[in-house]
Parts: sequence; C-alpha cells; structure tokens
Amino acid sequence: MDASKLLVDSRIVPVVVLANADVAVPLAEALLSSGLNVIEVTLRTDDALQGIEKIARNVPDMIVGAGSLRRPEQFAEIAAAGARFAVSPGASQRLLDAAAEHGMPFIPGAATPSEMIALFEQGYQLQKFFPAELAGGRPFLKAVGAPLPEVRFMPTGGVTPDNAVDYLKLDNVTSVGGSWITPRQHQQSGNFDAIREIGADAASLLV
Ligand code: 3PG
Repeated sequence: MDASKLLVDSRIVPVVVLANADVAVPLAEALLSSGLNVIEVTLRTDDALQGIEKIARNVPDMIVGAGSLRRPEQFAEIAAAGARFAVSPGASQRLLDAAAEHGMPFIPGAATPSEMIALFEQGYQLQKFFPAELAGGRPFLKAVGAPLPEVRFMPTGGVTPDNAVDYLKLDNVTSVGGSWITPRQHQQSGNFDAIREIGADAASLLV
C-alpha cells in the first residue's frame, strides 16, 4: 500500500504530537487555512486516536494520517478512527502485512540502502527517511539517489524551516515532515493563530 499517490501534492507534512484531543479540530483547521492539507498525528499521546477521529469527522478536507506506528494492531485502530494513511519510523514484515490487510496507504521508515531495497521490493516507492539529519541528511539522500533512482523519500527528524527547501530540491524527496509547525506550547495555550502563521510560513517555502 504505497502512499505516493495520496500524498503527491503534499510537500510539507506537519508531524503533530497532540497535546490533547480538544485541540485536534482547531489545529487542523488552522493548518488547512494556512495552506497545508495533510497532517500526521503521532501515536505518542493518549489522545492521539481520538484526535484523529475528530479531525476525520469534522475537517474532511484535511488528509489525516497516523504516525509513529510500531505495533501491527495499531492499523486496525487507526483505520477505525478514520486515518487515511500511516507512517512508521521503521518497518517490519508484520507492520507491512497489517498495512496490506487494512488497505492502508503506508509510509514505512528506512535509514540504510538495504532497508530501502527491502521496502522497494515490497512495492513501497515512498519511504520515510528517519531520523533524517542524524542518519546523514541531504548528502546521504543524494548519494543513495544514484544507485536507487526509483525510491522516493519523506525525510523527517531534524527538518526545520532552514533546511526544508534544500531537502525538497533533491530529486528523490517528494515531501518533508516535521514537528516545528505545531509547537506544544501553542497547542496548550490555544494559540491557533500562531500555528496558522507558522503553517503559512511553511507553505510559503514552497513558492
Ligand atoms: C517524526 O516522528 O517524524 C519525528 O519525531 C519528527 O521529527 P522532528 O520533531 O525533528 O520534526
């Protein structure tokens, strides 16, 4: 269940560690009005699933996905919540099987050429490159692009407004992901205008 087609127009993916389920809808609306139409809610907080459900139900124009998947049973949970794609920092055969079982577009993680080839063999053209900056950053992606020309990446982990454009300039990078767009303190204080502004700044990197 390669996710390339679903995310083809989404070059910046906000990676959200949701402070609580109540912020999910205003957060998604703020991002949408800033010009970003995809959101990855990480399964790292208790309220993440409920937040995904709220966004799926109330903000239908937002493509909501779930991130940080690490157990196969989470695919059933996110499918029930209405997630439209899934992301993992890595991959295992059980995770890939669960994605296929649920027909869930999935962006599995890879950080070495062998991992990338193993995923490509299973039909995953789009892969998450994580943790991007620590795993070699742009020079690494540029280097693997020569022997692995078909594989496409969404780098995350250390992507910032300062380096996002340079990542996006690489031929094998289709999108970047990052948590900088939705700081926890703005979620907690309900400052969605600030999140809208950061989102708009991020969207303006693309023009
Ligand atoms: C992820 O799950 O993709 C990363 O934790 C996001 O990394 P960042 O916080 O460095 O943007």
